[in-house]
Amino acid sequence: MTDFPAPSASPADQILTLRAQLHHHAHCYYVLDAPEITDAQYDRLFQELQALEQQHPEWVTPDSPTQRVGGVVLAAFAPVRHAVPMLSIRTETDTEASGAHAFDARVRKALGLADTDPAVVYVAEPKFDGLALSLRYQDGVLVQAATRGDGEVGEDVTQNIRTIGQVPLRLPAGVPAVLEVRGEVYIRRDDFEVLNERQRQRIAQGIKGEKTFVNPRNAAAGAVRQLDPGIAAQRPLSFFAYGVGEVTGAVAPWQTQWELLQALRGWGFPVTELAQRCAGAEELVAHHQKIGALRDALPFDIDGVVYKVDRLDWQRELGFVTREPRWAVAHKYPAQEQTTRVLAIDVQVGRTGKLTPVAKLEPVFVGGVTVTNATLHNELEVQRKDVRVGDSVIVRRAGDVIPEVVAVVAHSNDPTPQARSAIFQMPTRCPVCASAVVREEGEADHRCTGGLFCPAQRKQAILHYAQRRAQDIEGLGEKLVDQLVEGGVIRALPDLYRLGLMALAQLDRMAEKSASNLLQALEHSKQTTLARFIFGLGIRHVGEATAKELARHFGRLDALMEAPEEALLAVHDIGPVVAHSVRTFFEQPHNREVIEQLRACGVTWPEHDGAAPHAPAAGPQPLAGKTLVLTGTLPTLTRDEAQAMIEAAGGKVSGSVSKKTAWVVAGAEAGSKLAKAEALGIAVLDEAGLRALLQAF
Ligand code: IVH
Repeated sequence: MTDFPAPSASPADQILTLRAQLHHHAHCYYVLDAPEITDAQYDRLFQELQALEQQHPEWVTPDSPTQRVGGVVLAAFAPVRHAVPMLSIRTETDTEASGAHAFDARVRKALGLADTDPAVVYVAEPKFDGLALSLRYQDGVLVQAATRGDGEVGEDVTQNIRTIGQVPLRLPAGVPAVLEVRGEVYIRRDDFEVLNERQRQRIAQGIKGEKTFVNPRNAAAGAVRQLDPGIAAQRPLSFFAYGVGEVTGAVAPWQTQWELLQALRGWGFPVTELAQRCAGAEELVAHHQKIGALRDALPFDIDGVVYKVDRLDWQRELGFVTREPRWAVAHKYPAQEQTTRVLAIDVQVGRTGKLTPVAKLEPVFVGGVTVTNATLHNELEVQRKDVRVGDSVIVRRAGDVIPEVVAVVAHSNDPTPQARSAIFQMPTRCPVCASAVVREEGEADHRCTGGLFCPAQRKQAILHYAQRRAQDIEGLGEKLVDQLVEGGVIRALPDLYRLGLMALAQLDRMAEKSASNLLQALEHSKQTTLARFIFGLGIRHVGEATAKELARHFGRLDALMEAPEEALLAVHDIGPVVAHSVRTFFEQPHNREVIEQLRACGVTWPEHDGAAPHAPAAGPQPLAGKTLVLTGTLPTLTRDEAQAMIEAAGGKVSGSVSKKTAWVVAGAEAGSKLAKAEALGIAVLDEAGLRALLQAF
């Protein structure tokens, strides 16, 4: 279904064809997670439809994929009375097996079953930790989405729900004339992490009114009840269907909850794969345990398992008491949020030099494990949440994500602000190596500047130095570096050149042959270039291209090491952030020592007296001043070869697409960079196009 409609078709037919194609591909992408076309192809179809609808606004219908975005900012949500009330579920707080047995016993008794009757069949589904939603379809078209509210009256949030790709805007032919689908809107854990990281960045950039979200459920609730649908559209909402409300105009084609789930899936709704039919209490317990074991690894939060009597006639017979059906129960898992006390706030240094404040906690059982440490992310977050030693705080642990302190619990009997301990401040020296700590303008994180020397960053420094584009030490990979550093064989970078065959051959898995190969590679790497050496130092913001500019400009390492910021700013393409970072790096005595030791070990490169900024290289420079981006796999050229050709022609190669990019060269399996280029209207070339470009001048 990737073809454009035949141009001879009438515009109305073209619109219908495009919509059908877009509906199909949205389902493949959002629900099945199995796209059949690229994002760029989807965008082309979408834009084609948009253009046609702009020419014929009278043909725009609410189920058109173009209507997922936009909408007007509301003053308030309109109330919606639910045709069928949205019930709540009785919770079984007893997280042990007895919870399931008690429920099964109640159901059997209410149905008047004897001990000799067969086991009751249930459907066990995850209890998603989001918020309940009712989607109303008339003649297969989504006409209204409403929150649960008090169960009788909810709010009309249709505009916001339309932005969720997983919610079908139209259903296949043959569905009941009125169909209300009930389910849960939620935010995936990974989407939540990205969302909160983005929020932390915005806070660091000083954007007013921004905050981080406590958990995915709150973020989802905020998005659903967002009056500006433009903002709601930026929140990564997902959806699972698990039930129905009003159904009219056809005999419902199901007799059980299980068949209902299959029907919903068949109509294009996302339905969990984790639902299972269970006969009797024992199978419920086994399922509860199975899902409990999977819980941390799931991509979304769940807070329990819902057991539902499978037969719908029995559900009707059982009915409900005070808004809670007698045919369902929620069997919980340990809570993912708990309160505890902050004993201290430590600072940890990560392998890239990032400093993270970490709360040391009175041990607390959260999300199934005992937690004693929780991240506070960065200084701004600690100060914004005003977390201090001695405070009671809410700790959240969900999945494999590091536990975090999400908020301080306000207590009426808290000491007065003056009596509380001091507000947290990041140290000005690295707690591991005592190098200077910096935070760049607009950045959330503090960093240690002793990259070459800091023990916390040792492994990263060695791997960066050894990589192909730096000293190219073949055979020195992550596992070996782990062994060398953890075994105390290497403490600092220069120790690499002091390795002996004996020490190496004694390491796990290190055969004598590969040990001597590594020694050879190390010896070989001593003859390098200034650009590679500078890149290998791992100075923040100094990538390969910048290292080349610095080498070309200064010619000698000493000249670079002594250069004041003004001199650095004179280098082509170097701005204040990079200049400051380079200066700070070389100001750290420990970094200088390491460089001296490397030279003493025999690491050397040809030097010259420096070049005028941007001295022309030999040959014509048709691409001077142009930046290109390479993405995907080219048919014959390797990335390095393509880059070398571009650089020989005076051009630069950058890792990211921006408005300044002159061309994007795309090969097979080009991803987001290609999409971005297309979005920004930047010219895209293939390999042949690149070759033509280089010859055209
Ligand atoms: S069925 C019993 N199924 O739990 C009929 N609800 O306390 C009503 N929920 O607000 C709901 N996962 O948002 C049902 N698989 C699931 C669910 C589920 C989460 C939520 C729902 C509702 C609450 C009921």
